[in-house]
Amino acid sequence: AAMTSGAARERLDMNAYRERLEARLGKSREMMRVVLNKAKSNPKRVALAEGEDEKMIRAAYQMQEEGIAEPILVGKTTTILRKAEELGLDFDPTIANPRDGEWDHYVDRLYELRQRKGVTKSEAEELVRRDSNYFASVMVEVGDADAMLTGLTHHYPSALRPPLQIIGTAADANYAAGVYMMTFKNRVVFCADTTVNLDPDEEILAEITKHTADLARQFNVEPRAALLSYSNFGSVTNEGTRKPRDAAALLQGDPEVDFPVDGEMQADTALVEDILEGTYDFAELDGPANVLVFPNLEAGNIGYKLLQRLGGAEAIGPMLVGMDKPVHVLQRGDEVKDIVNLAATAVVDAQEEE
Ligand code: ACO
Repeated sequence: AAMTSGAARERLDMNAYRERLEARLGKSREMMRVVLNKAKSNPKRVALAEGEDEKMIRAAYQMQEEGIAEPILVGKTTTILRKAEELGLDFDPTIANPRDGEWDHYVDRLYELRQRKGVTKSEAEELVRRDSNYFASVMVEVGDADAMLTGLTHHYPSALRPPLQIIGTAADANYAAGVYMMTFKNRVVFCADTTVNLDPDEEILAEITKHTADLARQFNVEPRAALLSYSNFGSVTNEGTRKPRDAAALLQGDPEVDFPVDGEMQADTALVEDILEGTYDFAELDGPANVLVFPNLEAGNIGYKLLQRLGGAEAIGPMLVGMDKPVHVLQRGDEVKDIVNLAATAVVDAQEEE
């Protein structure tokens, strides 16, 4: 009898789990639908630096079929066409092959941008022809593509460096940062920085907060930002807790900031309305935070992964913010749906640049 009731309980647990899973996917689908619809209204050219990768080819097919983006596969034409055929994909992809002769103006541009950073003309030639992350970065920089995706087959830092060097940050930005959108049943939070800045100071934290709030608005989410720490509003004072506190102060004094922001605070303070309205009723937040800015890369990277693996959140990202043009560096092992989702966010980003 004990066994039966155990099995029954397990079934009940499974059903409850499935319901929760459905509800959660419902939210993330709803969030992505906003972006996918925006993307389809005016699709943009997205350079896929790893154009010979099968997942990239499948993602390109899907983007093109669904009208989300106009993909440009960077790579060897014969390889891409052969793989597309093997995959049974009936499409005529746009391909840019760095090895064939037409890219002298890319070499010139890369040389122009990097000659005072130690790059010689022949090195520029080598980078354009042999390193598709440089090729795609130049393609976006000169305006032959509107956005860029990479990272599936590279370590994150090595895929990130070329776009940082060639495309660089936006006019109103000094630092790029990686944001994950985490969706739960009835809730969505944007986590930053999860992938770029190792030990940001208060200025960098403030900048990351602004870019992340802008990104939230692209998903039709009104931002409420918390600078996270292990301390609540001065309960512990040291260099580590000072930075998020000073970042919050900078943002509160910034006339351009038109969203509620506060800190430093602990994660539960940021997320639990009762704590915010009880003990810390003086806080600027009028509801639980949905933009969570972590004090450093360890906290941010570990934090979002815990939310994903233990908290059961669906993760969309990392979305690179602060760049002059939309660039997203995927994680190795990401799936076709992740690529398509990030391409859609890049398209929306590109639309807003117009
Ligand atoms: N924002 C914008 N531009 C930057 C940043 C930044 N945060 N950091 C460096 N740059 C620029 C530099 O100004 C430089 O430009 P320049 O050459 O025109 O002057 C260019 O990028 C390259 O800078 P380097 O100093 O050569 O690069 P660095 O060694 O600092 O590397 C990098 C930069 C790759 C971002 C590094 O900070 C890094 O490795 N960060 C951590 C990445 C990581 O491991 N993430 C976690 C894992 S990823 C994951 O889980 C998805």
